[in-house]
Amino acid sequence: MKKVTIVGLSLLLLVACGKQSSSNQSGVQEGGTPPALTGTYASIDANIFQPLCYRCHTGTNPAGGDDFSNYPSLLTSYDIVSGNPEQSQLYIDVKNGVMPKGGPALSAVQVQAIYDWIKNGLPQH
Ligand code: HEC
Repeated sequence: MKKVTIVGLSLLLLVACGKQSSSNQSGVQEGGTPPALTGTYASIDANIFQPLCYRCHTGTNPAGGDDFSNYPSLLTSYDIVSGNPEQSQLYIDVKNGVMPKGGPALSAVQVQAIYDWIKNGLPQH
């Protein structure tokens, strides 16, 4: 009697597992995935500036005079010295957690992407 119950249970489990795996087809995600974080303006803008800086650093009177949505003006911004992250206030501030103001500091990977971007001469794409 006991044996029969155990056999029955394992059969049930087998059926349940079989069902689960057959209905668990992995669908391909469509859209909505931000570009991978790399040292380009397009990637840093989508992954860091837009979600974490835009609310203060865009518009007619952006905080600190820095409008991060404006790629051409960033190229000449005194806060970013092309090729020289250590001299760039933008890099110094995110590295030291001063920016984003009032929010958690950027991750090491995010700081590194900004470093690479400035070091490599601020590539747009
Ligand atoms: C809550 C608003 C807010 C957010 C969010 C924010 N900032 Fe700022 N930021 C400011 C203000 C205000 C200033 C002007 C200086 C100050 O008051 O500290 C400033 C100044 C700066 C400066 C110029 C500093 C200088 O000495 O000239 C840089 C560079 C900067 N922010 C980078 C960033 C970056 C990068 C992000 C996103 C990762 C960010 N900020 C997010 C408010 C913000």
